[in-house]
Amino acid sequence: MNAPGGADAEEGANPDLNPRLVDPVGPQDKDEFYHDILDGLSVFMDSDYILDILYAIREYPILRLGHSLNLGQVTCKKWLLDTLADTGTTDLGTIYILGGWYGVLGAMFLHDPRFTIKKVVSVDIEPQCRPVAEALNRTNAENGRFESLTADIYELDYRRLLARTSADDSRPDLLINTSCEHLAEFDRWFSRIPPGTLMIVQSNDYFSCEEHHNCAPDLGSFKRQVPLSEPIYDGQTKLKKYTRFMLIGRR
Ligand SMILES: C[S@@+](CC[C@H](N)C(=O)[O-])C[C@H]1O[C@@H](n2cnc3c(N)ncnc32)[C@H](O)[C@@H]1O
Repeated sequence: MNAPGGADAEEGANPDLNPRLVDPVGPQDKDEFYHDILDGLSVFMDSDYILDILYAIREYPILRLGHSLNLGQVTCKKWLLDTLADTGTTDLGTIYILGGWYGVLGAMFLHDPRFTIKKVVSVDIEPQCRPVAEALNRTNAENGRFESLTADIYELDYRRLLARTSADDSRPDLLINTSCEHLAEFDRWFSRIPPGTLMIVQSNDYFSCEEHHNCAPDLGSFKRQVPLSEPIYDGQTKLKKYTRFMLIGRR
């Protein structure tokens, strides 16, 4: 007798016995296939995070939104959350996410019960990111804990923002930039951040991507590029196509 999936199962397979041959997903069915599965997951997991993603991908079925939610992107952001939680910094106040794209990191923060967060402000220069980020963060955009801002992070007035009182929800307590590899004039951005500001930055060595203008060849180079007066963490994680670097500390 052959084990399931053995030679007999491959040769002259009977479609009634081989589920792959009975009801295969054709290219035209793929959307429905994945939506159905996400719908089912959201019921069992009772997760606003999954429901918000489902809403965003229905409203904005664009390829780059899929990229922003892919394994590599989410792995790097989960690494950020886990590392920050391990440092014991969990009461975060208001977080500014600079180069925040479609708001995936903001959503992950706001749905993570390890953190106490007043508000996330996700800033991106591309105006088309805003509606997508708000859809992806629908639950928290509606309750005022997520805001998407269209602005150039080279031009934001960090001093003025940081000078606001702590009662003001728009005062940043933590600046995050996981898009450092995209900043051709990195020093111009970094020099605008007031000393003492709590920051988390990520970059990578993915030089072959044409959107990347500021990759770092290794962790040491990234640390030299981002001199922190009070370093809290530095590390790297290897992904399939690149290695990602992360620093946490005060400017
Ligand atoms: C491809 S995405 C993010 C990739 C990154 N791995 C991540 O998710 O953190 C880079 C984003 O940075 C944004 N960006 C680049 N330069 C910017 C600037 N000067 N001000 C604001 N956003 C900027 C781009 O519009 C884009 O949405």
